Amino acid sequence: MVNIFYAGNRDEFNEYQIHIKNALDYVNIKYSLTIDPIDPLKIDYIVYAPNGDLKDFQPFKNVKLVQNLWAGVEVPIANETLTQPLARMVEPGLTLGMADYVMGHVLRYHLNTDKFQNALPGEWHGDQIPPLSKNRSVGVLGLGELGMHCASKLSEFGFKVSGWSRSKKTHPNIQCMNGIDGLDTILKCSEIIVLLLPNTKETLEIINEESINKMRFGVSIINPGRGTLINDDALLNALNSGKILGATLDTFNEEPLPKDHKYWSHPKVLVTPHIASATRIDTACQILAENIKRGETQKPFKYLVNKLSGY
Ligand SMILES: NC(=O)c1ccc[n+]([C@@H]2O[C@H](COP(=O)([O-])OP(=O)(O)OC[C@H]3O[C@@H](n4cnc5c(N)ncnc54)[C@H](OP(=O)(O)O)[C@@H]3O)[C@@H](O)[C@H]2O)c1
Repeated sequence: MVNIFYAGNRDEFNEYQIHIKNALDYVNIKYSLTIDPIDPLKIDYIVYAPNGDLKDFQPFKNVKLVQNLWAGVEVPIANETLTQPLARMVEPGLTLGMADYVMGHVLRYHLNTDKFQNALPGEWHGDQIPPLSKNRSVGVLGLGELGMHCASKLSEFGFKVSGWSRSKKTHPNIQCMNGIDGLDTILKCSEIIVLLLPNTKETLEIINEESINKMRFGVSIINPGRGTLINDDALLNALNSGKILGATLDTFNEEPLPKDHKYWSHPKVLVTPHIASATRIDTACQILAENIKRGETQKPFKYLVNKLSGY
């Protein structure tokens, strides 16, 4: 019997309860699930989300794994009381949702939809017809679970795709790069840049005045990664000068985006409210169950976070 503490958003507990039961029954794990643990020393697994109430992990001395329900892990990493192993959420629903978001917004820039929408004669010219996707370069910064899937979908669709990660990756149809030279090449070549890097010390404001200067004139940026990846003043200056054609922003340095932020009214910015993708409870519970099964059969947990690298 394993004891599980649900420390996610209380409003979602009922739905989690149903899917945790289905998923743990499927892998033959007997369990007890609580939202208000009486004895923290008896808890084996914590199902955690930063929008739940749990702030102090210290009393849970026998916990084998804290399973984060979100892909981003900056909040639990910053929590110094969390010394137990931490896994981030990687699940098919989250991945598919992100690919939908990225594909939709890449296509919007690719087709120059905003320009052609309701365009009257004289407001557009034949030479503004978009190139074919096979002649459009898209760069994806971050080739992790989400970035690699999005890059792969964009490539399947027909775009010329390159991607950047910390370690070297290979993919038959994606030009995979790493290192500072790789970053420079992607910045120089891409017409649309998608940011799917995590929030770490190393990625902080990776989109800044200097990196924007390296980009092509008329590039578009889509940021479902993290707001911290962008220096907002540098982006706004580049939008105003025309260097950057447009920006679709789902994540921000401050969330929710303050009401008076310049992004709201900027004609070249499309703001979405951190909805690019969300954890889907049914598929997330299957991943949770798989990790608990691994813990109970002495196999290594999946998707463990490296607290030193910050993701
Ligand atoms: N807006 C939303 O709704 C939403 C939803 C889910 C996730 N997200 C964001 O999306 C991010 C990516 O998620 P994921 O699951 O794909 O993460 P992941 O699997 O951890 O992938 C992160 C990628 O970034 C690369 N990377 C990290 N630091 C780097 C550096 N300093 N230089 C170059 N590359 C670096 C990693 O390189 P290696 O492969 O070499 O390690 C990896 O390819 C999350 O961290 C979260 O912030 C947003």
